[in-house]
Amino acid sequence: MASDNVFVEHCKGINGLDKVILRETRGYSAEVYLFGGQVTSWKNEHREELLFLSTKAIFQPPKAIRGGIPICFPQFGNMDSLEQHGFARNRLWSVDPDPPPCSSHASSRASVDLILRNSEEELKIWPHRFEFRLRVALSPAGDLMLTSRIRNTGTDGKPFRFTFAYHTYFSVSDISEVRVEGLETLDYLDNLQNRKRFTEQGDAITFESEVDKIYLSTPTKIAILDHERKRTFELRKDGLPDAVVWNPWDKKAKAMADFGDEEYKHMLCVEAACVENPITLKPSEEWRGRQEILVVPSSYCSGHLDPRRVTFTG
Ligand code: BG6
Repeated sequence: MASDNVFVEHCKGINGLDKVILRETRGYSAEVYLFGGQVTSWKNEHREELLFLSTKAIFQPPKAIRGGIPICFPQFGNMDSLEQHGFARNRLWSVDPDPPPCSSHASSRASVDLILRNSEEELKIWPHRFEFRLRVALSPAGDLMLTSRIRNTGTDGKPFRFTFAYHTYFSVSDISEVRVEGLETLDYLDNLQNRKRFTEQGDAITFESEVDKIYLSTPTKIAILDHERKRTFELRKDGLPDAVVWNPWDKKAKAMADFGDEEYKHMLCVEAACVENPITLKPSEEWRGRQEILVVPSSYCSGHLDPRRVTFTG
């Protein structure tokens, strides 16, 4: 059950919404709202925010929170008949009183287990019974780890299908100075061109206009290099073959009520996802999808196996 200690604090956040603060001894911290099961903050030992959260984010259910790590489930985008990005990001999750053991997070003292089940109301729009367990944890070094376990708990003998994404908003100094490595030469579906398929050209991904692409069959590691801050995010993923890259740029930024006009310059979404081939779960089957993000204070290129060993250049 929920209990407070030096690593985990249950408290109230904006507008009295329940949140959980995770803290690690090295000084890293993270905040998770039960609304949306959403990470809204991840800070390093200098208390610098590593995730982007809009100054205009509306913490008012059922409007999803703009920033952090929204969970897109059971539908990514508007690819099917549900609301955009599914309903998980605008439902109230509970603290899981009986989480199953999670071997990959065994060393984390700063962790919280959340659970989402469908309500009778939801069954009308998505008639499949499920249990979605989300563990958010900080490693002793401060890495932010999210593990999702989704189980088909239906008794009707029917499978269900879903798509999924960890819609991570990274905080960056200046989008025009940012480079993404690990996606070059891959095929992608361009959301700005009716999801037409293209092949990425060039050495690395840089940004000078709106981008909304679903990269397919991506590697398990993607790097986001922020030259100005001399900081690199590394995203590691498992069970999530695709990666969505999104920046709304100026025009779309202005059209969003919960996003500042100039904020597109300071964010980039790189989303570990499973979109192209939906996951099918038979009754009592479980799917697992993991994401780990870490930050290294250096220039980094994907050729290096261990970014922590790269010399600090700043
Ligand atoms: C991205 C999608 O994942 O999320 C974009 O690829 C979408 O098409 C963006 O615009 C933001 O979505 P929303 O629903 O949070 O405004």
